[in-house]
Amino acid sequence: MSEDLYRGLQVLESDEHSLDRLDRLKAMTGPLLAWYGEHARILPWREEPTPYRVWISEIMLQQTRVEAVKPYFSRFMEELPDIASLAAVPEERLLKLWEGLGYYNRARNLQKTARILMERYDGRLPDSRSELIRLPGIGSYTAGAIASIAYGEAVPAVDGNVLRVLSRVLASTEDIASLSVKRRFEQDLAAVMPAGCSSAFNQGLIEIGAIVCVPNGEPRCGECPLHSVCLAARNNLTDSIPVKSRPKPRRIEERTILLIVSHGRTAIRKRPPEGLLASLYEFPSLTGKHSPREISETDLLDGAGILRIRPAPDAVHIFSHVEWHMSAFLIETERIPAQYAAADPDELRDRYPMAGAFDKYIRFLGGES
Ligand code: ADE
Repeated sequence: MSEDLYRGLQVLESDEHSLDRLDRLKAMTGPLLAWYGEHARILPWREEPTPYRVWISEIMLQQTRVEAVKPYFSRFMEELPDIASLAAVPEERLLKLWEGLGYYNRARNLQKTARILMERYDGRLPDSRSELIRLPGIGSYTAGAIASIAYGEAVPAVDGNVLRVLSRVLASTEDIASLSVKRRFEQDLAAVMPAGCSSAFNQGLIEIGAIVCVPNGEPRCGECPLHSVCLAARNNLTDSIPVKSRPKPRRIEERTILLIVSHGRTAIRKRPPEGLLASLYEFPSLTGKHSPREISETDLLDGAGILRIRPAPDAVHIFSHVEWHMSAFLIETERIPAQYAAADPDELRDRYPMAGAFDKYIRFLGGES
């Protein structure tokens, strides 16, 4: 009897406990592909999976939900339909298109890579995982996603969703935050991936992770095509698997935001080109919590001619490593000091790439709640 047929029989005999790791992963393939064929959501980047569209969508989808990404993706494609236009767009406009998605270095890396592609790759994304992974902002997951979805290369694309699904299928209690655990899953998937359907295989796993084996809340095991091979479901372990070590707690930073307003315009300034929110615009601010008297004495208001200082609402913004806890003052002045740009509410919304941390204040200045 051939080895493959023998393995097949083992699965048919429902002796799933005896399946080893690779066999169990292999046993997912049939049900996974059949389910994906029927249940894949219709998404703009799936309709026309060119390398460029897959690349942009995968970068946007890191840390952001599909529904939130859709409008960003269509605006981006309308304005920057190809690698050449991405390479050429002014950074400020690119950041404006990205505004609200966060992680602005991702947008900057997109442009850096687009410029490399124009210079060295004939304006095209290379067609192999091994070349893609050498480009700025393209890691193991994204390289695998582009290579498999756009070019059909039989390589895995393992993100947090896929790690959750796989560790449940295998009832693995290894820490999915560990790079070595991720690497092992990648190797194992590469070993079991069927040739010729890598796009559906990878996106099927991603899709199950997104809509069945969900990140927050109870997994919908009743709807899961992998239920019959899933050891966590069988052993009631979905509450405790995946195991994921906690990252360091975020640092809390108090800030006092100065909304300096004169004749309908507000003072903004560009942040430095490196570090958090690099090159985005912001309202002037001070670290720490300050009283109106302290504020009136800072050089941030030099030359402004203060008319009135009133409290504005508090706001919190959460970054990956820091939380800003903001208090704010609306400061009416005779003029906007020369050290700032002066923007009216429309320009705050449409022209300047403002850091998302200030959304509440932009709405406040525009008269919205
Ligand atoms: N999340 C990450 N990649 C995705 C994709 N290709 N489709 C849907 N959700 C995703």
